[in-house]
Amino acid sequence: MADAEKSEFKPITRDFLQKEWREGFDIFYQVPVEGRRKFIKFAEFDPRDFSRLDAILKEKQTEVFYIREADLYKYYQFNIIKNLLLGLTQDRPPVREVFQRVYPVATRIFQDYLELDASDEFLILLEEVPRILAPAVESENLPFAELFKLTLKENSTHAHCVNVGLYCLCLARELGMNRKKQEAICLGGLLADIGKKYIPREVMFKESELTDEDVRTIRRHPAFGKKALSELKRYPETVLRMAGEHHENFDGTGYPSKLAGQYIDSSARVCKIMDVFNALTSRRSYRDVMPPIQALTLMKEKLGGQFDPKLLTAFIQYAGKS
Ligand SMILES: [Fe+2]
Repeated sequence: MADAEKSEFKPITRDFLQKEWREGFDIFYQVPVEGRRKFIKFAEFDPRDFSRLDAILKEKQTEVFYIREADLYKYYQFNIIKNLLLGLTQDRPPVREVFQRVYPVATRIFQDYLELDASDEFLILLEEVPRILAPAVESENLPFAELFKLTLKENSTHAHCVNVGLYCLCLARELGMNRKKQEAICLGGLLADIGKKYIPREVMFKESELTDEDVRTIRRHPAFGKKALSELKRYPETVLRMAGEHHENFDGTGYPSKLAGQYIDSSARVCKIMDVFNALTSRRSYRDVMPPIQALTLMKEKLGGQFDPKLLTAFIQYAGKS
């Protein structure tokens, strides 16, 4: 089986099937043929026949079933996101609850994108996140402590990406940026680290000390991310520059291009602050979660040269407000 076909199929569990989902799709299983994987159609998902299919899959619990990536995309588009939007329109919840509802959807899309090695088009699903959240924070402020409370502190790329995107959005609002800019900076923050998908897993998730070669490999992720996003041909310059420049330091010591000060895109300078802040306040194998106040003190006193001082001060002030 060609590689292209291999990557078209994504594994699902029985829990994936939902009676409420009205779109039909094909379910496949995998057989080895001459040392290669071949995907054979096993059944068709038809919501009118849900119980029969559910019973069959229950019997075959040890088998792994697959669906086409295009169907997985539709599942998110017409089921998860559609229901999210419908619920928000009906309930009109307060801003904190809007974030609470969007957060698990965004992290799940990211997790599937990264872990199922979905194509970059899958990221288009995330565009709904700033479209929902920017108007929500416009009408009602979300204190940083509230936002911080609802984010996951686990050591995972998907949680990191979503946290950075949400932190960027809320600081952008605090800085008085307009709606369009807020949406762009939120999306840019969400997507800044997607280049990590192109770093070999054994390097990205290495438990032991990284070699110089490993560090060089990981440091290629801003360029990979910017390239992948450029190829989708749908993002504003801000989003592309945030991906490419979020590891540049204000004092010119960052990577990949050692840009300094105003030469670094202003949104990428915001992203840099949020990236470091979230890394410090998330669990790592070698240490526990650092409280925000400790992380901000460290950033100001020990790592200050990395950040735009005005933006760091604005973030510290926003984080300290109740
Ligand atoms: Fe990064």
